[in-house]
Amino acid sequence: MSDRATVLMARIDELAKFSEEPHRLVRRSLTPALQQANDLVASWMLAAGMTVRQDAVGNLVGTYAGVAGASKTLILGSHLDSVRDAGKYDGPLGVLAALACVERLHEEGQRLPFAVEVISFVDEEGLRFRTSYLGSSALAGSFNPSWLDYQDEQGVVLADALRRFGGDPADIASCRRNSDDLLGYCEVHIEQGPVLEAEDLPVGVVDGIAGQDRLTVEFTGVAGHAGTVPMARRHDALCAAAELVLAVERTGQATDGLVATMGQIAAEPGASNVIPGHVTLSLDVRHRDDAVRTRAVAALHDEATAIAQRRGVHLVWTSMQSTPAVPCSPQLIGRLAHAIEELGFKVQHLTSGAGHDAVPMASLTDAAMLFVRCKGGISHNPAESVRLDDVNVSLETLYRFVLGMQRDMAL
Ligand code: GLV
Ligand code: MN
Ligand code: MN
Repeated sequence: MSDRATVLMARIDELAKFSEEPHRLVRRSLTPALQQANDLVASWMLAAGMTVRQDAVGNLVGTYAGVAGASKTLILGSHLDSVRDAGKYDGPLGVLAALACVERLHEEGQRLPFAVEVISFVDEEGLRFRTSYLGSSALAGSFNPSWLDYQDEQGVVLADALRRFGGDPADIASCRRNSDDLLGYCEVHIEQGPVLEAEDLPVGVVDGIAGQDRLTVEFTGVAGHAGTVPMARRHDALCAAAELVLAVERTGQATDGLVATMGQIAAEPGASNVIPGHVTLSLDVRHRDDAVRTRAVAALHDEATAIAQRRGVHLVWTSMQSTPAVPCSPQLIGRLAHAIEELGFKVQHLTSGAGHDAVPMASLTDAAMLFVRCKGGISHNPAESVRLDDVNVSLETLYRFVLGMQRDMAL
């Protein structure tokens, strides 16, 4: 077993200490907790012979220069922001695997005919502002300036949070990369599903990533006295929301491969003796086929409209983000598959239901992902767990993948 996998696991534990809450892992984007995690990773990058900077949108970027005259760059990376009550591997595994690859090159004194960049993207999860991929979208040139006005639960505006983080909302365009300068993007990530465990395989190759819609749904009714307003005269926003939550579940169940989730709900004014007057919910809808997903979102909008009319409440339906399903690069898939075969494992192809920074990156350059088996397929949960020997295989695969790019360039 390589020491690198052991070091990576110890680093994962170190990073998990940087949280906004003492008893569970919550590391939203653009927070001091994320800054602490980035600073520690930056110190490891520097020790690995990289130059380090933070770009205008808050991505941490470490660069390991290639041989003199090398003009292209291979990007490796993932994210250090988390969901609420997160596991410690979703994101950090990919950043640290990329770092471990560069550390190995550095220790071996290898310079490649291309630069290797390791990026910790500033927001993959979208927990704080309900829109994900902020950092990778900026690289791909698809950062929507209207996102800068989004507010978090405390009313902090994204642009202000970014300034406090040392970024520059007026200069997001400077993060944009030119496709011609890039060789590709590769991200290591826990599988977040059960297939590799069922197949008894340490790693697998991602063929494509499901598209997703993220929306905010608001119902506004009439707040009132829980003891005095008769049931027949109520316009209860939470009851409307409850109907929609179940309609969302039914819609997901009725369509093969569709997943639909309302994961956040806030009822106001929020008192046991007050009829809820206003409710805000999040809606997340995903499918590998964009047409199926788009139809489902439209049907749910119709359903929400009908619920609102029946109950005499007002509906506001806001799309926060919509990303299409993306295929991974056949060339890079082939290179990862070759590396896995060299290590003596069967190549398992997978579709990702989870979103990743590889989605915006795929519009910029060839993108690929290597999934690592995780216990029970569990993620977005503190029970996330990976095996040391699987991490070892993923590091070896990534290293061989990178050297494979060098070989191909020499041909
Ligand atoms: C990211 O983890 C997502 O798919 O929501
Ligand atoms: Mn992730
Ligand atoms: Mn995640």
